[in-house]
Amino acid sequence: MSFPTSLPPSRLEPAQDAPPLRWGILGSGWIAAKFTESVKAHTRQVIAAVGSRSQTSADRFANDWKIEKAYGSYDALVQAPDIDIIYVATPHGEHHRHVLLAIEAGKHVLVEKPMALNHAQAAEMVAAARRKGVFFAEALWTYFLPKFDVISQILDAGTIGEIRSVYTEYGEYLPRDHRIFDASLAGGPLLDLGTYPVSLLTRLLGVPSRVVGVATPDPAGVNGQLAVAMINDRGAQGTMATTLYGFTPTNAAIVGSKGSIRFISEFHLPGSFEVWSRDGSTRLTYEEARGAHFEGLYHQAAGIARTIAQGGLESPCRPLDASLATMKTLDAIRHALRIDFAEAGLRE
Ligand SMILES: NC(=O)c1ccc[n+]([C@@H]2O[C@H](COP(=O)([O-])OP(=O)(O)OC[C@H]3O[C@@H](n4cnc5c(N)ncnc54)[C@H](OP(=O)(O)O)[C@@H]3O)[C@@H](O)[C@H]2O)c1
Repeated sequence: MSFPTSLPPSRLEPAQDAPPLRWGILGSGWIAAKFTESVKAHTRQVIAAVGSRSQTSADRFANDWKIEKAYGSYDALVQAPDIDIIYVATPHGEHHRHVLLAIEAGKHVLVEKPMALNHAQAAEMVAAARRKGVFFAEALWTYFLPKFDVISQILDAGTIGEIRSVYTEYGEYLPRDHRIFDASLAGGPLLDLGTYPVSLLTRLLGVPSRVVGVATPDPAGVNGQLAVAMINDRGAQGTMATTLYGFTPTNAAIVGSKGSIRFISEFHLPGSFEVWSRDGSTRLTYEEARGAHFEGLYHQAAGIARTIAQGGLESPCRPLDASLATMKTLDAIRHALRIDFAEAGLRE
């Protein structure tokens, strides 16, 4: 098969066409606001209610975003009869509890990334959703973007051949009062920023058979930064670094036996990438404006609404087994680097 001369277009249908669901927002923090803003601006999805640990915060959020109902407890939100799906936007140490609460109430659930603190928690959540027959997905919005639909087509067509190595990293500056420095909230970069590169590595290489690396503890009692190398049973390798101490390019490269994929800007955000033939003689470019951190969050809401309307219980963009495999890789990295979440109450 010769190297292609053009890239396929994205198959994503317009987000505005997705049939509306009635969404309940669980937790009124930073990402909840970004999600609400993006979904309201780009889709016909209805943000119908917000639930908070306090009525004051629920009222403030509802007022800011013109949301019909504000509940002063998560329990009241998940019990509301006029809500189709709960978007869980609490810190990851709380995902297990809050997702199970929503599933037990019979609601479909979209949970922020990472799905949970470890694979055991995530497996319990997935089993509960399957038992109850509700839709469940991890909000790894990157994989719902048009550019990742194009990348999926390139990979499925075998354009770059068998994957040999994957290089990834993601660092951000975060102020000292951010929850990421709080050990009781399972802070540190790995589950927060690191979920993006680790999910990419796992998607392309599977769960690694061996992980080695180095980690720097932060005085706040969380991990401050880490770098790892991993290998799978076929000898394919991946690297990943993540830090809380500054912004990095957040780039990635995927090297296959017939070619490679290079991102022009942050791999997890909207933006351009190139596909090179092995010897670099053919270079194809997917052009897309570079997005801000939260631009594009709406694609996941539209995609999920379509899946649910068709009776699907998991998303083809972020299948539950992909989230479970990512949790296994995250566990393997933590165990290799002796990072635990004991202060967040996790017993392993
Ligand atoms: N997709 C993305 O791009 C993206 C970006 C940032 C974060 N995230 C993920 O989204 C989740 C939330 O992150 P965030 O930055 O939005 O956090 P945040 O600003 O701290 O908001 C979290 C909210 O969760 C609720 N909450 C429940 N239990 C809590 C507890 N024990 N401590 C603190 N808050 C608690 C609070 O809402 P109430 O007071 O209303 O109950 C709080 O406002 C994390 O899992 C994170 O990894 C995703």
